[in-house]
Amino acid sequence: MSDYNAWFAAQDDPNERYPLTEVVYYSKSGGLLEVQHDLTALRQRSAAEWKQLFESRWMRTSWPYGSGVWGKKEWVCPGIANENVVSTFEGGSNLYWAERFGREIGVEDLWIKMCGNSHTGSFKDLGMTVLVSVVKQMISDGQPIRAIACASTGDTSAALAAYGAAAGIPTVVFLPKGKVSTAQLVQPIAHGATVISMDGDFDACMRVVREVTADPNSGIYLANSLNSLRVEGQKTVGIEIVQQFDWAVPDWIVIPGGNLGNIFAMGKGLLMLHDLGLISRLPRLICAQAENANPLYRASLNDWRFEPMTARPTAASAIQIGDPVSINRAISTLKRFDGIVEQASEQELADAAARADRTGAYACPHTGVALAATIKLINRGVINKTDRVVVLSTAHGLKFSRFKVDYHERTLHEVTSSFPNPPIELPADADAVRRALEPQLDRLTAGRS
Ligand SMILES: Cc1ncc(COP(=O)(O)O)c(C=O)c1O
Repeated sequence: MSDYNAWFAAQDDPNERYPLTEVVYYSKSGGLLEVQHDLTALRQRSAAEWKQLFESRWMRTSWPYGSGVWGKKEWVCPGIANENVVSTFEGGSNLYWAERFGREIGVEDLWIKMCGNSHTGSFKDLGMTVLVSVVKQMISDGQPIRAIACASTGDTSAALAAYGAAAGIPTVVFLPKGKVSTAQLVQPIAHGATVISMDGDFDACMRVVREVTADPNSGIYLANSLNSLRVEGQKTVGIEIVQQFDWAVPDWIVIPGGNLGNIFAMGKGLLMLHDLGLISRLPRLICAQAENANPLYRASLNDWRFEPMTARPTAASAIQIGDPVSINRAISTLKRFDGIVEQASEQELADAAARADRTGAYACPHTGVALAATIKLINRGVINKTDRVVVLSTAHGLKFSRFKVDYHERTLHEVTSSFPNPPIELPADADAVRRALEPQLDRLTAGRS
């Protein structure tokens, strides 16, 4: 039995509580539930002892603590039996110094946290390991759960399908037809999920999955990020970033936002570090949105008054969301972290991703949104040249090959490619190759001393 405890609490009434293993998504007043931890019990260990414990588990193989998420188990979901944890040892993704790109855009201390270097290629693994583990615990406790379901813009469904398959729990995923990449569509198919390709956008999929799972007798458990179990896993990314800097806090963290669960999760992890004394200051947070799906950006310009919108197509398809589920908690997070919202046009996000790629990154379009927002804020003098900036790369670029092909073939919608690099087609002839290479290499080495 763990000394630590966590439960669901209503946002408007902390005394309204439910066990994490109860099928409940909303409070009596209809608001979202939050996971709360017994901070008094957590304070029994000093900040130095927590740091030491987390360091001792970091990237080892001891089950389940070698996972970046479960290495922080006491802070995440202490009540789960270790044998019910469903993990691919997610987390622990690389945080690297983007030296050349940073120099190009005017901040030398630029870092990219590669959340897409993970089992299913996006940060969604961090939350899904927690949710599916809790469901496994519920099933082993005898609860009649038949399947787990989610609506998705592609990455959530990939993670749910993989973790469900690892646990042997059936999964059902609702995807907007024609609006996810081929890689994203094939992931749940390969894992044996029931894939529903819906005529409609993500917001429509979300509406339907909420209805289907609303009946407690359906036996279908809802896995979207309105289910705060996912937030508990996702919040470890903020803790991890600070740990990777030897417990030093960066000045800025930039996050692409769609349904806005991730910005809230980032804030939650950082606040826990602060409340438990592991850090003494907070970074500022930047939420980056695609201009074609920018309801939070609009709210930020309108004294945080939010109006849902119909999101227009964007290459950053996973954040093509007009009515984000976590809008209220994202706004509170931004207020707490002196946050900023910035937007990026299709042109800006595609060019930012291409520029970063030319310095060795391989940025997905959502990371492109975050990079473009960073560039704009540097150029406006909001981010100072000496600041330490971390950009969250939320998915692996390889999941978005079409975006890159279209960019380099100059066919990307709403974009005139500024850095296209199409292949040079030549006959199998060395002279022809030499003739083609000379001007190319002259151009690429021009300006070198
Ligand atoms: C690659 C990628 N980036 C960013 C996001 C945005 O995260 P959130 O919806 O929590 O704001 C998502 C969510 O689907 C995503 O898949």
